[in-house]
Amino acid sequence: MGTRVAVLASGKGSNLQALLDDPDVRPWVALVVSDREDSGALVRAEDAGVAAIFLDPKAHPSRADFDRALLQVLELENIDVVVLAGFMRILSGEFVRAFEGRLLNIHPALLPAFPGAHSVRDALEWGAKVTGVTVHFVDEEVDHGPIVLQEAVPIEPGDDEHSLHERIHEVEHRLYPRAVKLLGEGRVRVEGRTVRVVES
Ligand code: GAR
Repeated sequence: MGTRVAVLASGKGSNLQALLDDPDVRPWVALVVSDREDSGALVRAEDAGVAAIFLDPKAHPSRADFDRALLQVLELENIDVVVLAGFMRILSGEFVRAFEGRLLNIHPALLPAFPGAHSVRDALEWGAKVTGVTVHFVDEEVDHGPIVLQEAVPIEPGDDEHSLHERIHEVEHRLYPRAVKLLGEGRVRVEGRTVRVVES
């Protein structure tokens, strides 16, 4: 049996779609969880025939409660790898430790520049000429863990948040399936802050 991947998403789920559209990654995606009932990710999962769960933050008011419920679901489904795809919640230390080395995030900037929830807007407002995409392991600090893949996206004169995010998305949709594949194939070694990809 292959790697069992859970994708966690809050938004429209275009990164989830890129994972579902990759013929190597698709069979690994066992579960999609969202903290928003109206997330496009849940619809995309259902359309693809993948189990989809809405976990209601109102039913689990503290972060610890929510994350414990999430851990329970992932354990029940025998999940090996958790992929955050626009999941807009910060995960507790307990959760992060449970999936250490098996928990990926995608961030719409070149970390450590522009961490946080508004990175595309922040890069524009800063007047940066280049931003990009980072795929990284999640550790207990926000937008901080070892970097697996990064790619730059130039900021063009006249860009607004929408046009820039669209070009960032194009890069994300290429990078994320590649990173998930590397991890699922066991080809990723973490040495301190440095991630090394082992040739197949
Ligand atoms: C993506 O651009 C992702 O990098 C970003 O949310 C978007 C989700 O899009 N994540 C963050 O900002 C995390 N801090 P999607 O729902 O279409 O995949």
